[in-house]
Amino acid sequence: MGKVTVITSGKGGTGKSTVTAGLGAAFVRRGGRVLLIDCDAGMRGIDLMLGVSGELVFDIADIINGNCPPSSAIYPCKNLPELYILPAPQNVRDELSPSVMKQLTVVMKDYYDQILIDCPAGIGSGFETAVAPADRAVLVANAEPLSVRSCNKVRRKLQHCAIDDISLIINRFNEKKFRRMDVYDDLDAVIDEAGARLLGIVPEDSAASSASQKGQPVEGRMKASLAFDRIAARLDGKSVPLQIGT
Ligand SMILES: Nc1ncnc2c1ncn2[C@@H]1O[C@H](COP(=O)(O)OP(=O)(O)OP(=O)(O)O)[C@@H](O)[C@H]1O
Ligand SMILES: [Mg+2]
Repeated sequence: MGKVTVITSGKGGTGKSTVTAGLGAAFVRRGGRVLLIDCDAGMRGIDLMLGVSGELVFDIADIINGNCPPSSAIYPCKNLPELYILPAPQNVRDELSPSVMKQLTVVMKDYYDQILIDCPAGIGSGFETAVAPADRAVLVANAEPLSVRSCNKVRRKLQHCAIDDISLIINRFNEKKFRRMDVYDDLDAVIDEAGARLLGIVPEDSAASSASQKGQPVEGRMKASLAFDRIAARLDGKSVPLQIGT
């Protein structure tokens, strides 16, 4: 049975979709078969990042509405065999209900080792749908006050939704900028304010960002990619030391 992880954040733009795609690729490198579910109805993005947007015909709403079998709305990522994408509906009005999302994911768990759900930012209407089937949640924050504070809010909401396994990724970390900002004494202060256990730190990586803008997976020797490998190993229960900045 596959493990279902929802990737969330309080503030938008912290890197949820980048983390979802990057962790998906990392789980594939670990030998898994991985499904990424884009739950950001009306704002889908993972298909663009992984270079499959030109191929999309059906999406998650088409499966539910009976327009196609599930297999027709799941797209393989060209560059990474064993990485698959289930796109979000084009329109917000086609957003699924939490119970339907749960039923769909139960079926998918038989076919994939890891299911990663890209949640819309904040705790709006799509939040409960994205969170409903999850076994665990990963919060993605940048080491900035607005991002960290909103993270804490989402953590409480996740607990309200009966998700107990909640961890934190600090994304786009740049030590020099962090020191220059001079808001937090250290990363412990960030983690304390977010209120979740640290899963890993992903460095600011312009190569990874430009790859995803071009629809290429974040992989190989990119700094962010190495961080995703370590995080995927931790999510698999392996003990991997934390590294900051590389
Ligand atoms: N580690 C990183 N290093 C450099 N750039 C990054 C990193 N992570 C994300 N980015 C860039 O930050 C921007 C926002 O990332 P992304 O779209 O993944 O955020 P998001 O949380 O999914 O946004 P939204 O809330 O709008 O869905 C993108 O331009 C992406 O390339
Ligand atoms: Mg996104």
